[in-house]
Amino acid sequence: MVEGERPVPWFLGDIYENLRTYYICPFLFVCKFAKSRSLIYNIDIIFRKYMKKIIFSGIQPSGDMHIGHYLGAISQWVSLQKDYNCIFSVVDYHAITVKQDPSELRQRIVNTAKIYLASGIDPTKSIIFQQSAVNEHVELAWIFNCYGAYMSDLQKMTQFKDKAGDQEAVSVGLFDYPVLMAADILLYDTEIVPVGEDQKQHIELARDIARRFNSRFGNAFVVPQAVVRKEGARVMSLLDPIKKMSKSDKNQNNCIALLDDVEVAKKKIMRAVTDSGSDVVYDTTDKPAISNLLTIYALLGGRQIKRLEKDYAGRGYGDFKRDLADVVGKFLEDFQSKYNRISDQEVINILAEGQSKAKALASKKMDKVRQMIGVR
Ligand code: AMP
Ligand code: TRP
Repeated sequence: MVEGERPVPWFLGDIYENLRTYYICPFLFVCKFAKSRSLIYNIDIIFRKYMKKIIFSGIQPSGDMHIGHYLGAISQWVSLQKDYNCIFSVVDYHAITVKQDPSELRQRIVNTAKIYLASGIDPTKSIIFQQSAVNEHVELAWIFNCYGAYMSDLQKMTQFKDKAGDQEAVSVGLFDYPVLMAADILLYDTEIVPVGEDQKQHIELARDIARRFNSRFGNAFVVPQAVVRKEGARVMSLLDPIKKMSKSDKNQNNCIALLDDVEVAKKKIMRAVTDSGSDVVYDTTDKPAISNLLTIYALLGGRQIKRLEKDYAGRGYGDFKRDLADVVGKFLEDFQSKYNRISDQEVINILAEGQSKAKALASKKMDKVRQMIGVR
Protein backbone atom coordinates (compact mmCIF):
# COMPACT_ATOMS: atom_id res chain seq x y z
CA MET A 1 0.00 0.00 0.00
CA VAL A 2 1.32 3.42 -0.95
CA GLU A 3 1.69 5.87 1.95
CA GLY A 4 -0.23 9.10 2.19
CA GLU A 5 -3.83 9.97 1.69
CA ARG A 6 -5.87 8.20 -0.93
CA PRO A 7 -8.90 10.14 -2.07
CA VAL A 8 -12.31 8.74 -1.23
CA PRO A 9 -12.91 6.82 -4.47
CA TRP A 10 -9.67 4.92 -3.95
CA PHE A 11 -10.62 4.08 -0.44
CA LEU A 12 -13.90 2.68 -1.79
CA GLY A 13 -11.83 0.89 -4.38
CA ASP A 14 -9.83 -0.89 -1.69
CA ILE A 15 -12.97 -2.12 0.04
CA TYR A 16 -14.38 -3.25 -3.28
CA GLU A 17 -11.14 -5.01 -4.19
CA ASN A 18 -11.45 -7.19 -1.08
CA LEU A 19 -15.16 -7.83 -1.55
CA ARG A 20 -14.54 -8.70 -5.16
CA THR A 21 -11.84 -11.24 -4.43
CA TYR A 22 -13.83 -13.16 -1.86
CA TYR A 23 -17.49 -12.73 -2.75
CA ILE A 24 -18.07 -11.16 -6.12
CA CYS A 25 -15.61 -13.05 -8.31
CA PRO A 26 -17.13 -16.48 -7.57
CA PHE A 27 -20.55 -15.03 -8.29
CA LEU A 28 -19.38 -13.50 -11.59
CA PHE A 29 -17.85 -16.84 -12.52
CA VAL A 30 -21.11 -18.71 -11.96
CA CYS A 31 -23.04 -16.05 -13.91
CA LYS A 32 -20.63 -16.43 -16.80
CA PHE A 33 -21.29 -20.15 -17.05
CA ALA A 34 -25.01 -19.65 -16.69
CA LYS A 35 -24.69 -17.05 -19.51
CA SER A 36 -26.58 -14.64 -17.31
CA ARG A 37 -25.39 -11.08 -17.77
CA SER A 38 -26.94 -9.70 -14.64
CA LEU A 39 -26.89 -6.27 -13.06
CA ILE A 40 -23.86 -7.30 -11.06
CA TYR A 41 -21.75 -7.17 -14.22
CA ASN A 42 -22.53 -3.53 -14.75
CA ILE A 43 -21.93 -2.69 -11.12
CA ASP A 44 -18.61 -4.51 -11.32
CA ILE A 45 -17.50 -2.42 -14.29
CA ILE A 46 -18.27 0.81 -12.42
CA PHE A 47 -16.47 -0.27 -9.25
CA ARG A 48 -13.45 -1.60 -11.10
CA LYS A 49 -12.89 1.93 -12.34
CA TYR A 50 -12.42 2.98 -8.72
CA MET A 51 -9.97 0.16 -8.11
CA LYS A 52 -7.66 1.48 -10.75
CA LYS A 53 -4.60 3.34 -9.55
CA ILE A 54 -3.42 6.56 -11.12
CA ILE A 55 -0.42 6.70 -13.41
CA PHE A 56 1.29 9.87 -14.54
CA SER A 57 4.18 10.29 -16.94
CA GLY A 58 5.46 12.73 -19.51
CA ILE A 59 8.06 13.54 -22.11
CA GLN A 60 9.56 16.89 -23.00
CA PRO A 61 8.81 18.25 -26.47
CA SER A 62 12.45 19.00 -27.17
CA GLY A 63 14.54 17.31 -29.83
CA ASP A 64 13.59 14.27 -31.87
CA MET A 65 12.06 11.38 -30.01
CA HIS A 66 13.83 8.08 -30.46
CA ILE A 67 13.45 4.37 -29.82
CA GLY A 68 14.85 4.91 -26.30
CA HIS A 69 11.76 6.96 -25.46
CA TYR A 70 9.55 4.38 -27.07
CA LEU A 71 11.09 1.36 -25.35
CA GLY A 72 11.93 2.99 -22.01
CA ALA A 73 8.70 4.90 -21.52
CA ILE A 74 5.89 5.03 -24.08
CA SER A 75 5.53 1.32 -24.90
CA GLN A 76 5.23 0.68 -21.17
CA TRP A 77 2.50 3.32 -20.91
CA VAL A 78 0.53 1.66 -23.69
CA SER A 79 0.37 -1.66 -21.88
CA LEU A 80 -0.59 -0.02 -18.57
CA GLN A 81 -3.63 1.81 -19.98
CA LYS A 82 -5.94 -1.13 -19.57
CA ASP A 83 -5.49 -1.55 -15.85
CA TYR A 84 -4.85 1.99 -14.64
CA ASN A 85 -6.24 5.49 -14.88
CA CYS A 86 -3.47 7.04 -16.93
CA ILE A 87 -2.49 10.67 -17.41
CA PHE A 88 0.18 11.42 -20.00
CA SER A 89 1.50 14.92 -20.42
CA VAL A 90 3.56 16.74 -23.00
CA VAL A 91 5.72 18.53 -20.45
CA ASP A 92 6.48 21.73 -22.33
CA TYR A 93 7.49 23.80 -19.28
CA HIS A 94 10.25 21.26 -18.72
CA ALA A 95 11.47 21.75 -22.27
CA ILE A 96 12.10 25.49 -21.74
CA THR A 97 14.71 24.77 -19.06
CA VAL A 98 17.01 24.89 -22.09
CA LYS A 99 16.54 27.36 -24.94
CA GLN A 100 13.80 26.59 -27.46
CA ASP A 101 12.76 28.31 -30.63
CA PRO A 102 9.09 29.38 -30.11
CA SER A 103 7.67 28.25 -33.44
CA GLU A 104 9.61 25.01 -33.36
CA LEU A 105 8.43 24.36 -29.81
CA ARG A 106 4.80 24.95 -30.80
CA GLN A 107 5.06 22.28 -33.51
CA ARG A 108 7.02 19.86 -31.30
CA ILE A 109 4.25 19.94 -28.69
CA VAL A 110 1.78 18.71 -31.31
CA ASN A 111 4.26 16.19 -32.69
CA THR A 112 5.02 14.75 -29.26
CA ALA A 113 1.32 14.17 -28.59
CA LYS A 114 1.05 12.65 -32.06
CA ILE A 115 3.83 10.22 -31.15
CA TYR A 116 1.88 9.21 -28.04
CA LEU A 117 -1.17 8.52 -30.21
CA ALA A 118 0.74 6.67 -32.93
CA SER A 119 2.33 4.49 -30.24
CA GLY A 120 -1.11 3.40 -29.06
CA ILE A 121 -2.03 5.79 -26.26
CA ASP A 122 -5.80 5.85 -26.51
CA PRO A 123 -7.47 9.19 -25.63
CA THR A 124 -10.69 7.39 -24.73
CA LYS A 125 -8.82 5.51 -22.00
CA SER A 126 -6.11 7.97 -20.94
CA ILE A 127 -5.85 11.71 -20.43
CA ILE A 128 -3.38 13.32 -22.84
CA PHE A 129 -2.64 17.00 -22.22
CA GLN A 130 -0.13 19.80 -22.46
CA GLN A 131 1.47 20.69 -19.13
CA SER A 132 1.45 24.49 -19.60
CA ALA A 133 -2.32 24.40 -20.27
CA VAL A 134 -2.91 23.47 -16.62
CA ASN A 135 -1.30 26.28 -14.65
CA GLU A 136 -1.67 24.46 -11.33
CA HIS A 137 1.58 22.62 -12.18
CA VAL A 138 3.73 25.73 -11.85
CA GLU A 139 1.76 26.98 -8.87
CA LEU A 140 2.34 23.76 -6.96
CA ALA A 141 6.00 23.75 -7.99
CA TRP A 142 6.38 27.17 -6.37
CA ILE A 143 4.78 25.95 -3.17
CA PHE A 144 7.15 22.95 -3.15
CA ASN A 145 10.06 25.32 -3.69
CA CYS A 146 9.12 26.85 -0.39
CA TYR A 147 7.78 23.80 1.43
CA GLY A 148 9.31 20.44 0.62
CA ALA A 149 12.36 20.87 -1.63
CA TYR A 150 15.81 21.76 -0.34
CA MET A 151 18.77 23.18 -2.21
CA SER A 152 20.78 20.18 -1.05
CA ASP A 153 18.32 17.81 -2.79
CA LEU A 154 18.69 19.58 -6.10
CA GLN A 155 22.45 19.86 -5.87
CA LYS A 156 22.64 16.07 -5.88
CA MET A 157 20.70 15.58 -9.11
CA THR A 158 22.90 13.82 -11.64
CA GLN A 159 20.83 14.95 -14.61
CA PHE A 160 21.36 18.57 -13.60
CA LYS A 161 25.10 18.04 -13.22
CA ASP A 162 25.26 16.38 -16.66
CA LYS A 163 23.19 19.03 -18.40
CA ALA A 164 24.74 22.04 -16.69
CA GLY A 165 28.27 20.71 -17.20
CA ASP A 166 30.69 23.59 -16.83
CA GLN A 167 28.53 26.20 -18.58
CA GLU A 168 28.38 29.55 -16.84
CA ALA A 169 24.86 30.69 -17.68
CA VAL A 170 22.74 27.84 -16.38
CA SER A 171 19.08 28.75 -15.81
CA VAL A 172 17.48 28.47 -12.40
CA GLY A 173 14.76 26.49 -14.20
CA LEU A 174 17.20 23.73 -15.10
CA PHE A 175 18.22 23.48 -11.47
CA ASP A 176 14.64 23.58 -10.20
CA TYR A 177 13.22 21.22 -12.80
CA PRO A 178 12.83 18.18 -10.48
CA VAL A 179 10.52 20.26 -8.27
CA LEU A 180 8.23 20.96 -11.24
CA MET A 181 8.35 17.26 -11.99
CA ALA A 182 7.30 16.49 -8.40
CA ALA A 183 4.37 18.89 -8.82
CA ASP A 184 3.33 17.16 -12.07
CA ILE A 185 3.20 13.84 -10.29
CA LEU A 186 1.75 14.80 -6.91
CA LEU A 187 -1.01 17.01 -8.30
CA TYR A 188 -2.97 13.97 -9.48
CA ASP A 189 -2.60 11.55 -6.53
CA THR A 190 -0.35 9.49 -8.76
CA GLU A 191 0.67 6.13 -7.39
CA ILE A 192 2.81 4.89 -10.25
CA VAL A 193 5.23 6.72 -12.51
CA PRO A 194 6.48 4.64 -15.45
CA VAL A 195 9.78 6.07 -16.66
CA GLY A 196 13.23 5.18 -17.93
CA GLU A 197 16.04 4.46 -15.46
CA ASP A 198 17.42 8.04 -15.56
CA GLN A 199 14.31 9.49 -13.89
CA LYS A 200 14.41 7.38 -10.72
CA GLN A 201 16.33 10.00 -8.76
CA HIS A 202 13.74 12.65 -9.60
CA ILE A 203 10.93 10.42 -8.41
CA GLU A 204 12.78 9.80 -5.14
CA LEU A 205 12.68 13.55 -4.66
CA ALA A 206 8.93 13.65 -5.39
CA ARG A 207 8.49 11.01 -2.68
CA ASP A 208 10.51 13.08 -0.19
CA ILE A 209 8.57 16.23 -1.00
CA ALA A 210 5.24 14.43 -0.52
CA ARG A 211 6.32 13.03 2.84
CA ARG A 212 7.70 16.36 4.07
CA PHE A 213 4.58 18.27 3.04
CA ASN A 214 2.26 15.66 4.55
CA SER A 215 4.08 15.64 7.85
CA ARG A 216 3.98 19.42 8.09
CA PHE A 217 0.43 20.15 6.89
CA GLY A 218 -1.44 16.83 7.10
CA ASN A 219 -2.07 14.28 4.40
CA ALA A 220 -2.36 15.99 1.06
CA PHE A 221 -0.30 13.85 -1.28
CA VAL A 222 0.03 10.20 -2.22
CA VAL A 223 3.65 9.02 -2.15
CA PRO A 224 4.31 7.72 -5.67
CA GLN A 225 6.50 4.89 -6.92
CA ALA A 226 8.70 4.75 -9.99
CA VAL A 227 8.18 1.79 -12.29
CA VAL A 228 11.11 1.03 -14.55
CA ARG A 229 10.87 -1.87 -16.96
CA LYS A 230 13.47 -4.60 -16.73
CA GLU A 231 14.61 -4.46 -20.34
CA GLY A 232 14.74 -1.22 -22.31
CA ALA A 233 14.92 1.01 -19.24
CA ARG A 234 18.18 2.37 -20.61
CA VAL A 235 18.65 2.07 -24.34
CA MET A 236 22.25 2.96 -25.07
CA SER A 237 23.90 4.99 -27.82
CA LEU A 238 24.64 3.05 -31.02
CA LEU A 239 28.09 4.60 -31.15
CA ASP A 240 29.06 4.44 -27.49
CA PRO A 241 27.21 1.77 -25.50
CA ILE A 242 28.35 3.27 -22.21
CA LYS A 243 26.26 6.39 -22.90
CA LYS A 244 22.47 6.61 -22.94
CA MET A 245 20.83 7.03 -26.37
CA SER A 246 20.00 10.70 -26.26
CA LYS A 247 18.28 13.35 -28.34
CA SER A 248 20.80 15.93 -27.24
CA ASP A 249 23.80 14.00 -28.58
CA LYS A 250 25.52 15.97 -31.35
CA ASN A 251 26.09 12.91 -33.52
CA GLN A 252 22.63 11.81 -34.67
CA ASN A 253 24.02 8.41 -35.70
CA ASN A 254 23.93 7.50 -32.01
CA CYS A 255 20.19 7.18 -32.05
CA ILE A 256 17.26 5.93 -34.13
CA ALA A 257 14.62 8.66 -34.16
CA LEU A 258 11.03 7.48 -34.43
CA LEU A 259 10.63 9.65 -37.51
CA ASP A 260 13.96 8.76 -39.13
CA ASP A 261 13.85 7.82 -42.77
CA VAL A 262 13.70 4.00 -42.78
CA GLU A 263 16.77 3.54 -45.00
CA VAL A 264 18.79 6.00 -42.90
CA ALA A 265 17.79 4.14 -39.74
CA LYS A 266 18.86 0.81 -41.22
CA LYS A 267 22.24 2.28 -42.11
CA LYS A 268 22.64 3.53 -38.54
CA ILE A 269 22.14 -0.03 -37.29
CA MET A 270 24.68 -1.38 -39.79
CA ARG A 271 27.16 1.27 -38.59
CA ALA A 272 26.51 0.66 -34.87
CA VAL A 273 29.63 -0.23 -32.95
CA THR A 274 30.06 -3.83 -31.83
CA ASP A 275 32.29 -5.48 -29.23
CA SER A 276 35.41 -7.54 -29.71
CA GLY A 277 34.86 -11.21 -30.66
CA SER A 278 32.02 -12.35 -32.88
CA ASP A 279 29.51 -14.15 -30.63
CA VAL A 280 26.04 -12.73 -30.28
CA VAL A 281 25.63 -13.07 -26.53
CA TYR A 282 24.02 -10.90 -23.88
CA ASP A 283 26.66 -9.73 -21.43
CA THR A 284 26.39 -6.10 -20.38
CA THR A 285 29.86 -6.03 -18.85
CA ASP A 286 31.96 -7.57 -21.60
CA LYS A 287 29.66 -7.00 -24.55
CA PRO A 288 27.72 -3.80 -23.87
CA ALA A 289 27.22 -2.94 -27.56
CA ILE A 290 25.81 -6.32 -28.61
CA SER A 291 23.73 -6.50 -25.43
CA ASN A 292 22.16 -3.16 -26.32
CA LEU A 293 21.41 -4.32 -29.87
CA LEU A 294 19.98 -7.59 -28.54
CA THR A 295 17.66 -5.64 -26.23
CA ILE A 296 16.44 -3.49 -29.13
CA TYR A 297 15.94 -6.59 -31.29
CA ALA A 298 14.08 -8.46 -28.54
CA LEU A 299 11.71 -5.61 -27.74
CA LEU A 300 10.98 -4.41 -31.26
CA GLY A 301 10.96 -7.89 -32.80
CA GLY A 302 8.98 -9.53 -29.99
CA ARG A 303 11.56 -12.29 -29.41
CA GLN A 304 13.32 -13.33 -26.22
CA ILE A 305 17.01 -12.53 -25.84
CA LYS A 306 17.77 -16.19 -25.03
CA ARG A 307 16.07 -17.25 -28.26
CA LEU A 308 18.03 -14.70 -30.27
CA GLU A 309 21.32 -15.92 -28.77
CA LYS A 310 20.45 -19.45 -29.92
CA ASP A 311 19.33 -18.35 -33.39
CA TYR A 312 22.52 -16.39 -34.03
CA ALA A 313 24.99 -18.82 -32.46
CA GLY A 314 27.99 -19.13 -34.75
CA ARG A 315 26.60 -16.68 -37.33
CA GLY A 316 28.59 -13.57 -36.36
CA TYR A 317 27.66 -9.90 -36.05
CA GLY A 318 27.02 -9.22 -39.76
CA ASP A 319 23.96 -11.46 -40.10
CA PHE A 320 22.63 -10.29 -36.77
CA LYS A 321 22.88 -6.62 -37.68
CA ARG A 322 21.27 -7.12 -41.09
CA ASP A 323 18.27 -8.82 -39.50
CA LEU A 324 18.08 -6.22 -36.75
CA ALA A 325 18.11 -3.48 -39.40
CA ASP A 326 15.07 -5.16 -41.00
CA VAL A 327 13.28 -5.43 -37.65
CA VAL A 328 13.91 -1.74 -36.93
CA GLY A 329 12.89 -0.79 -40.48
CA LYS A 330 9.62 -2.72 -40.21
CA PHE A 331 8.85 -1.17 -36.83
CA LEU A 332 9.49 2.36 -38.14
CA GLU A 333 7.38 1.79 -41.26
CA ASP A 334 4.39 0.69 -39.16
CA PHE A 335 4.90 3.46 -36.65
CA GLN A 336 5.26 6.19 -39.25
CA SER A 337 2.27 5.08 -41.24
CA LYS A 338 0.14 5.46 -38.09
CA TYR A 339 1.82 8.80 -37.27
CA ASN A 340 1.19 10.21 -40.74
CA ARG A 341 -2.49 9.36 -40.60
CA ILE A 342 -3.07 11.65 -37.58
CA SER A 343 -3.72 15.31 -38.38
CA ASP A 344 -2.51 18.27 -36.29
CA GLN A 345 -6.11 19.32 -35.78
CA GLU A 346 -7.01 15.93 -34.34
CA VAL A 347 -4.15 16.27 -31.87
CA ILE A 348 -5.18 19.80 -30.91
CA ASN A 349 -8.72 18.59 -30.17
CA ILE A 350 -7.45 15.68 -28.07
CA LEU A 351 -5.15 17.99 -26.10
CA ALA A 352 -8.05 20.38 -25.44
CA GLU A 353 -10.20 17.56 -24.13
CA GLY A 354 -7.30 16.30 -22.00
CA GLN A 355 -6.73 19.79 -20.65
CA SER A 356 -10.26 20.10 -19.30
CA LYS A 357 -10.07 16.67 -17.62
CA ALA A 358 -6.65 17.34 -16.10
CA LYS A 359 -7.66 20.84 -15.03
CA ALA A 360 -10.68 19.53 -13.14
CA LEU A 361 -8.48 17.18 -11.10
CA ALA A 362 -5.66 19.69 -10.60
CA SER A 363 -7.82 22.59 -9.49
CA LYS A 364 -9.54 20.47 -6.86
CA LYS A 365 -6.19 19.46 -5.41
CA MET A 366 -4.87 23.04 -5.48
CA ASP A 367 -7.95 24.37 -3.64
CA LYS A 368 -7.09 22.00 -0.85
CA VAL A 369 -3.36 22.80 -0.87
CA ARG A 370 -3.96 26.58 -0.79
CA GLN A 371 -6.21 26.11 2.23
CA MET A 372 -3.68 23.90 3.97
CA ILE A 373 -0.83 26.37 3.67
CA GLY A 374 -3.00 29.30 4.72
CA VAL A 375 -3.25 31.46 1.63
CA ARG A 376 -7.04 30.85 1.52
P1 AMP B 1 13.07 12.97 -21.86
O1 AMP B 1 13.56 12.98 -23.24
O2 AMP B 1 14.17 13.28 -20.90
O3 AMP B 1 11.84 13.81 -21.67
O4 AMP B 1 12.64 11.46 -21.52
C1 AMP B 1 11.33 11.01 -21.49
C2 AMP B 1 11.20 9.59 -21.01
O5 AMP B 1 11.92 8.69 -21.86
C3 AMP B 1 11.76 9.35 -19.61
O6 AMP B 1 10.95 8.42 -18.94
C4 AMP B 1 13.12 8.78 -19.87
O7 AMP B 1 13.58 7.99 -18.81
C5 AMP B 1 12.86 7.94 -21.12
N1 AMP B 1 14.09 7.81 -21.90
C6 AMP B 1 14.78 8.79 -22.54
N2 AMP B 1 15.89 8.30 -23.13
C7 AMP B 1 15.90 6.96 -22.87
C8 AMP B 1 16.78 5.89 -23.21
N3 AMP B 1 17.88 6.08 -23.92
N4 AMP B 1 16.48 4.65 -22.77
C9 AMP B 1 15.36 4.42 -22.04
N5 AMP B 1 14.47 5.39 -21.68
C10 AMP B 1 14.74 6.64 -22.09
N1 TRP C 1 11.68 14.79 -16.36
C1 TRP C 1 11.19 13.82 -17.28
C2 TRP C 1 12.25 13.54 -18.35
O1 TRP C 1 13.02 14.37 -18.68
C3 TRP C 1 9.91 14.27 -17.94
C4 TRP C 1 8.87 14.49 -16.92
C5 TRP C 1 8.41 15.70 -16.47
C6 TRP C 1 8.15 13.50 -16.21
N2 TRP C 1 7.45 15.54 -15.55
C7 TRP C 1 7.25 14.20 -15.35
C8 TRP C 1 8.19 12.12 -16.22
C9 TRP C 1 6.41 13.52 -14.48
C10 TRP C 1 7.32 11.45 -15.35
C11 TRP C 1 6.46 12.15 -14.49
O2 TRP C 1 12.26 12.49 -18.88
